[in-house]
Amino acid sequence: MSVLVETVVSPEVAPVAQAVADASAAVASGLLGGFGRAHRWLRRAAGRLLFERRYGVRTAEVVSLEEFGLARHDRVYYSAANWRTLRRALPRDEVGEGDVFVDLGSGMGRMVLEAASRYRFGKVIGVELSEQLNDIARRNLATTRLRLRCRDVELVRSDALDYRIPDDVSVVFLNNPFRGETFETVVGRLVASVDRNPRRVTVIYFNPTEEEFLLGTGRFRPLRTVTHGRGTRQEGPFGLTRVYEITERPDALDA
Ligand SMILES: C[S@@+](CC[C@H](N)C(=O)[O-])C[C@H]1O[C@@H](n2cnc3c(N)ncnc32)[C@H](O)[C@@H]1O
Repeated sequence: MSVLVETVVSPEVAPVAQAVADASAAVASGLLGGFGRAHRWLRRAAGRLLFERRYGVRTAEVVSLEEFGLARHDRVYYSAANWRTLRRALPRDEVGEGDVFVDLGSGMGRMVLEAASRYRFGKVIGVELSEQLNDIARRNLATTRLRLRCRDVELVRSDALDYRIPDDVSVVFLNNPFRGETFETVVGRLVASVDRNPRRVTVIYFNPTEEEFLLGTGRFRPLRTVTHGRGTRQEGPFGLTRVYEITERPDALDA
C-alpha cells in the first residue's frame, strides 16, 4: 500500500508528503474506507512529525532498500514501527538494569530511541543492514532531545545473518525486518543463544508475518497481543504486535 516518496523534498517535510501520498493511494484503492479515516490518519501523521521535530529526530520516512542496492526477496524495506509500540507491548516494570534490548533491523533507530529513553535497560543495541539508515540512526542518537535512561547504546551496521546475538540479550524487537530463510536462520540462532545461556527472553514482533514459523518451532509461547490505533481496520498480521517468551529446550525440562 505504501507509495515511496523520493527524497526530493526536505527530510522535515518528507514524512508529511509520505503520509499524504500513502493516504491518497489508500483512499483511491478504497482501503481506508473514505475520507474520515484518511483524515484521522493524516492527523496522526502530523502528530508524529511534531513529535519528531520536538525531540530532534528523523525516523518517519519509508525507504526502499533498492535505493542502496540492498534489496533481496527476504529483506523488508524501512518503515518505522509506531512510537508507542514498545510502551504498549512491554510494561516498564518488566525491565531492569540487567536487561539488554536488541532491535534486529533497526533502521533509523526509532525503537532503539524508545527503548533507551523509556526503559532502564542496561544496554540497547540496534542492528541494521543499511549503512545509510544506520548513519541516520547515529545522528538521531547524537541529536535527540529525548532524555535517555540508558546511556549504553550501540548501533551496529550488519546483516542480521552475520550478527552474533549476545548471550545476555533479554528483549528482542522485530518489526517485520526480514522473512523466509533469513528469518528462520536468525530465529534459530536466537534460540541457540538461549540454549547456550538459559534465561528469560521476551520477543516483541510487530507486523508478525512469520508467526506461523515461530510457533511451529515449539519454542515461542505467546504472552500477549497488542493492536494499534483506534479505527484501524485489522487485516492479517499488519498493525499487530505479538509478544512471546522463548521456552526452555524440551529435553532441558527432563534434566
Ligand atoms: C520495517 S523496518 C523496521 C525498522 C525499525 N525496527 C523500526 O521499527 O523503526 C525493517 C528494517 O530491517 C532492515 N533489514 C532488512 N533486512 C535486514 C537484514 N538481513 N539484516 C539487518 N537489517 C535488515 C531494513 O533495512 C529496515 O531498516
